[in-house]
Amino acid sequence: MSFVVAIDGPAGAGKGTVTKQVGEKLELINIDTGAMFRCVTLNLLQEKIRLEEQEKIQEILDKIEIDMKETGEIFLNGECVSHKIREDEVNNLVSPVSLNKSVREKLLELQRKIAQGKDIIMEGRDIGTVVFPNADVKIYLDASPEERAKRRMKQNEEKGINSSYEEVLKNIMDRDKRDSTRDIAPLKRAKDAIYIDSTNMIIEEVVDKIVEIVGERKKER
Ligand code: DC
Repeated sequence: MSFVVAIDGPAGAGKGTVTKQVGEKLELINIDTGAMFRCVTLNLLQEKIRLEEQEKIQEILDKIEIDMKETGEIFLNGECVSHKIREDEVNNLVSPVSLNKSVREKLLELQRKIAQGKDIIMEGRDIGTVVFPNADVKIYLDASPEERAKRRMKQNEEKGINSSYEEVLKNIMDRDKRDSTRDIAPLKRAKDAIYIDSTNMIIEEVVDKIVEIVGERKKER
């Protein structure tokens, strides 16, 4: 029987780092579903397919191969795209792509398939609500928009990107609104998810807390 930990929350709440570290500590396979939406987006860009071209999108989805290695590398149709999927071109298009019903259906199927029979920790927006409504542990990881904007500024600085705080904050708030008000699989806290506000917490504290929650849940089973 498999064990599933679902981590949902908005962009910049620390899901990526936390999920990776908890996964390593507890030997759970780490699946970043945002990266899967990014792969579809990159594939559409590579093939110069626009969002209006539904038939062509479907063709892409029918043959897409996304391979998430245990090393963290991500392959799209045989090509390593771990870096490409984090570039601006993809950043700018991934949110609208994630609204597409066929894209969501295809990725939902893949996400469930990847997890079959395995112990996993999966991060995204709709994991505890749609992908695995019966997950063993559900966490909703949040942080204030201002804190998330500060974290994004820091990441940008490290990458040598100049950005204004106001612009980054506005981007985050616009994205939150789009992600949480969309019709299909909106970002929302599952009723039975444990809410963690990481605004004033360091990564290690969040990781320890989740490890403890998972440990307790495993004992109960
Ligand atoms: O977590 P991220 O920034 O890599 O996610 C990229 C986009 O994909 C983001 O706009 C929200 C969307 N997404 C989604 O709709 N559902 C998921 N389970 C994961 C990501």
